[in-house]
Amino acid sequence: MIRLEKVKKVYDDGFQALKDINLEFKEGEINVLIGPSGCGKTTTMKLLNRLNEPTDGTVYINEKDISQMDPVELRRQTGYVIQHIGLFPHMSIAENVGAVPTLLKWDKDKIDKRVDELLNLVNLDPETYKTRFPSELSGGQQQRIGVIRALAAEPPVILMDEPFSALDPISREQLQDELLRLQKEINKTFVFVTHDIDEALKIADQIILMQGGEVVQKGKPSEVLSNPENDFVVDFIGKHRLEENRNSIPNVDEVMMEKPLTISSSESLTNAYESMKQHGVNSLVVVDRGELKGQVSIFDVIDVGVYENKLVKEVLKPFEQVVEIGTSLKVVLDLMEKNNAANIPVMNNNQFAGMVTRGSVVELLASVYANSQREGA
Ligand SMILES: Nc1ncnc2c1ncn2[C@@H]1O[C@H](COP(=O)(O)OP(=O)(O)OP(=O)(O)O)[C@@H](O)[C@H]1O
Ligand SMILES: [Mg+2]
Repeated sequence: MIRLEKVKKVYDDGFQALKDINLEFKEGEINVLIGPSGCGKTTTMKLLNRLNEPTDGTVYINEKDISQMDPVELRRQTGYVIQHIGLFPHMSIAENVGAVPTLLKWDKDKIDKRVDELLNLVNLDPETYKTRFPSELSGGQQQRIGVIRALAAEPPVILMDEPFSALDPISREQLQDELLRLQKEINKTFVFVTHDIDEALKIADQIILMQGGEVVQKGKPSEVLSNPENDFVVDFIGKHRLEENRNSIPNVDEVMMEKPLTISSSESLTNAYESMKQHGVNSLVVVDRGELKGQVSIFDVIDVGVYENKLVKEVLKPFEQVVEIGTSLKVVLDLMEKNNAANIPVMNNNQFAGMVTRGSVVELLASVYANSQREGA
C-alpha cells in the first residue's frame, strides 16, 4: 500500500503545485488520477518514485518512508510509463522492453522470452518489431511499447501517466481490457493518469479527482457517480453520465458479500460444524484454492452426524446456478426466483468472488425504484 500524508509541493520558482495531499493506494488496485491540465497529476505521480521530492509531508510504501529508501532501488521496483512515452531512441524495441530485466541481470533467454510474450500481449508481432527502433513505429505502437516496458520486470508498483492517450479508440479499449485482465492476474498496484473520464470510470478501483493542486473527491467510480461532491465534479463527469447512472440498474458487485465464510472440501465435517457454530451461520461455501465446489449446510452435518469422521466433500451440494461479476441485479433476481435460491455465488474468471443474497438484491432494487419514482415525480 502507498500512502501520501500531508504532501505539499512547491517548485523552485515558488509555484505551489500540490496543497496538502492525503491519499491511499491499496495493493492490487487501479487508482486513477484525473483532473484538468495543470492540476498536479504528473507532479503527484513523480513523488511516488522520487523523480519529485515533496516540499512537505511524507510518502510511504508499505509503511516505509520512501525518502529513506535508495532512489535507484525504488525506481527498479516501480514501472513507469511517462506522459510522452520516452522510449530510448537508440535502443531497439527488444532492448527497450528488456531494459529493466537487463539491469536486474536476468539471463538472456529469460529476457528474450519475456520480450516476445509482452509484444504478443499488445498485438505486435515479435519477429517484425523486435529489431526496429522507436522512430520506426507509429505513435500508438510506441505507446504500447512504453506500457509493456513498464510491466517487463513485474514491479509491485506501476505508474502510468496517460499511457493510452495516443491510441485510436479500438486499441485503447483493447489495452484497457488488457490492463484489467492483467491486474487480476498479477495483482499489482497501479497509479494511472488520464484525461478521459470514461476510461477512468471503466478501469478504476479508486478515482481521485484533482483541481488546482488539491483532491476534490476520491472513491469508487460508483460512489463518485452517485454522489458527486460539488459542481466541479458534476461538470467534470458530465450531466449525461450522471443521468445514465441514475437510471441504470445496478449490478451484482454493489451488493455482493466479498468474504463469506468458506471451507475447503478436504476438511472434516466436525470442523465445518465448529466453524458454523463459532460464527453463528448455518452454511459454508466450499472453495478449494479459489475454485467453487458447492456448499455445506448445518442440516447436512446433522443428518450425517458430526462424529462420523466424514469429510466436507462427501456431503457438499453443488450450486445450481452461479453468476459472473458485473451481472445486472435484475437478471440475478430472476434467477433467484426461477431456482428458488436464497443466495447465489458470484464468479470472476472462474474463481469464486463472493455471494449475493436475495434480501440484499431486493433491498437495493427497491431503493433504486424509489429514487426513480421520486425524480420522475
Ligand atoms: N518543474 C516545474 N517547475 C515549475 N512548475 C512546474 C514544474 N512542473 C510542473 N509545474 C507546474 O505545476 C502544475 C502541475 O503540473 P503537472 O505536470 O503536475 O500537471 P498535470 O495535472 O499533470 O497536467 P497535464 O494534464 O497537462 O499533464 C502546473 O501548473 C505546472 O506548470
Ligand atoms: Mg501531466
